[in-house]
Formats: sequence, structure tokens, C-alpha cells
Amino acid sequence: MDDAAAAPDGQTASMAVAMVDVNGLRKVYAGRPVVDGVSFAVEEGEIFGILGPNGAGKTTTVECVEGLRTPDGGTVRVAGLDPVADHDEITRILGAQLQESELQAKLTVREALELYSSFYRAPADWRLLGERLGLTAHLDARFEKLSGGQKQRLFIALALIGNPRIVVLDELTAGLDPRGRRDTWSLIEDVRDAGVTVLLVTHFMEEAQRLCDRVAVIDRGRLVALDTPSELIRHAANATLISFTPSRPVGHGTLGALPGAASVTEKAGRITIGGTDETVNAVIALLVREDITAERLRVVDATLDDAFLDLTGRRREPGPAGPADGSVTSGSAAASEGAQ
Ligand SMILES: Nc1ncnc2c1ncn2[C@@H]1O[C@H](COP(=O)(O)OP(=O)(O)OP(=O)(O)O)[C@@H](O)[C@H]1O
Ligand SMILES: [Mg+2]
Repeated sequence: MDDAAAAPDGQTASMAVAMVDVNGLRKVYAGRPVVDGVSFAVEEGEIFGILGPNGAGKTTTVECVEGLRTPDGGTVRVAGLDPVADHDEITRILGAQLQESELQAKLTVREALELYSSFYRAPADWRLLGERLGLTAHLDARFEKLSGGQKQRLFIALALIGNPRIVVLDELTAGLDPRGRRDTWSLIEDVRDAGVTVLLVTHFMEEAQRLCDRVAVIDRGRLVALDTPSELIRHAANATLISFTPSRPVGHGTLGALPGAASVTEKAGRITIGGTDETVNAVIALLVREDITAERLRVVDATLDDAFLDLTGRRREPGPAGPADGSVTSGSAAASEGAQ
């Protein structure tokens, strides 16, 4: 069984140093597998993202990496160490920002930063970290009085304070305002530039697209994709969306049969075709051949959001409404078009 899960797609043999190696990971609660044979390897110095719907098993997976949960099957190695058996050594090299955590209510930000610094032999400069995370004005504030976003900033600082070789961030910027989110992204980029490996769970596609070298998409405990953000987008069923209003009706059957065409929808006379670059060329050739004028012809690349929905969204709602799938894509197409 482990054998079957040992060589998943997307794991390249050429990886230099696997900082994190997850192989056939399983975690079962009350007889239900919530992580079911997940495998991936994170190279040293990489920002690796984990995406997936709520309840997909992302936190469970990263908590196995952190040694906070014991796998029921498969193996996890961090820098060659077993996160459970070698827990003390792991805590020296791994910094973790947990999805839900608390500190003592009366502890001030300064005290928390000083206390956590004292756990490490060569900690980062906590004042500098606090400054980068916008905490300087709140050093004397007690934890209980901090806003959600301020707590989040503090937890990011605490994850980084030990100068870890690898940092695991579970929903890095959840609850942060747009400015805080951007500042945090550039901080994480600096951390990576300093050679630190980053394992990042996120629901923000923009964050994954900007930060991650590669992402794993997990759905219902299984790995459904593992690639760079741009390759995931390129392989989405509707990687490119072509929309236009034809001067006279064109048969949906004809359009749907074009190379790479994955969906055809029509709204108020405007046609949207989801497909690939090849589809774009074929649509244009068809229009020329048929002498049809295309008003407001637009070609829009899919986003990671589209790729994510393509990988996880449709299968979440199986059933008789199947043919209406196209509306998911055309809805997001309209949104991305509007945003351009
Ligand atoms: N300690 C536990 N006992 C029982 N079930 C659990 C436990 N922890 C997690 N689960 C279940 O495992 C599944 C995966 O949970 P997990 O927290 O890993 O999801 P997630 O992908 O991080 O979701 P989210 O995006 O909502 O944070 C969920 O169905 C959850 O209810
Ligand atoms: Mg989670």
C-alpha cells in the first residue's frame, strides 16, 4: 500500500536536498482517513504552498511535519529527521505559525518576543522582526488586547524568531489588512532569500501565485495536483478564455469541437470559450473562414483561482447539475475580465 503511494506525479527525481519529505502520509480520525496517502518533497530554499478547500487535510498534514501529530501511515522527514521521534532537534530548526494558537492573556508583545528569543541559542533580533511586522507601537500591549491581525503578526514573528532553517506557516496572512498582507509577503521573500525553506498553507490564490515556487493542491485528504502556479494555470481545463459577440450566430457544437475547447457558454449574445492557446488560434481561423466579425474580442488568461476551482470546485458538487459546470468558469471569466 505504501508502495502504491510512493511515487506520485510531480515528484521529480532531480531534487537536490529534500528539506521536507512526506511519503504516503495517512491520518485517520474515527475510522475516516482525513489525509490519505499524501506525498510531496520540499527542496531547501523553496517556498512551497499547500492549497485546498476547508477540511481538505492541510493543517493535519503540516502538523505531522511539525511533529504535533503522529502519522497513522507513511513517513515524514524534515532535514532527514523524524518530527515525532526527533522532536527536540526539530524544534531547533523548524519555526511554526499555527492556524489557531493562543498566548497567555496578560503577556505583552515585548515579553512574548523576549521569552521566545530566550528559547534559542542564536535568535533573530526581535526588535527588528517586530518592526518589520508593524508591532513596534504595540510592544507594551497585552496579548488579550491585540486585534486579530496584530495577534497574527505576533505569531509570524514568533515563528521566525529562532532563525529557523524551515518555517511552516498555516494561513500566513488570514485576518491581515491589505497593507499587512503585502508587508508580510515581502518579509517572507526576504526570509527565503536568506536560504530558509518555507512551507505555506493558504487560501489566498494571489498569495500562492506571488510567493510559491510550487504548490500542492489537496482535496479530501488526497493530493490532486503538484506543480508551479503557472503550470497549474496552464493545465487548467480553461487556461485561456476567449469571449466575443459574433456578427451572426455560431453553433456551440462547432465551437466546442475546436482543439482544446473545454467549455462554451453564451450570455446575451456574447460567447465565452474556455480552452488553450490552440483554441484561440482555431477560433480566429474559424471566424475568418466563416466571415464572421467578432465584436469586443477578448482573450484572458486564467488565474490560479480558476485552476483551483477546476481542480477542486466541480468535484465538490457532483450530481445532475453537471452540464452547468461551464457557468463556474464563465463566472470567473467575467470577474477576471472585469478586473483587467
Ligand atoms: N483532532 C481531530 N479529531 C477529529 N477530526 C479531526 C481532527 N483534526 C482534524 N480533523 C478533521 O480532519 C479533516 C481535515 O482537517 P484539517 O484541519 O486538516 O483541514 P484543513 O485543510 O486545514 O482545513 P481549513 O482550510 O478549514 O483550515 C476535517 O474534516 C477535520 O474535521
Ligand atoms: Mg487548516
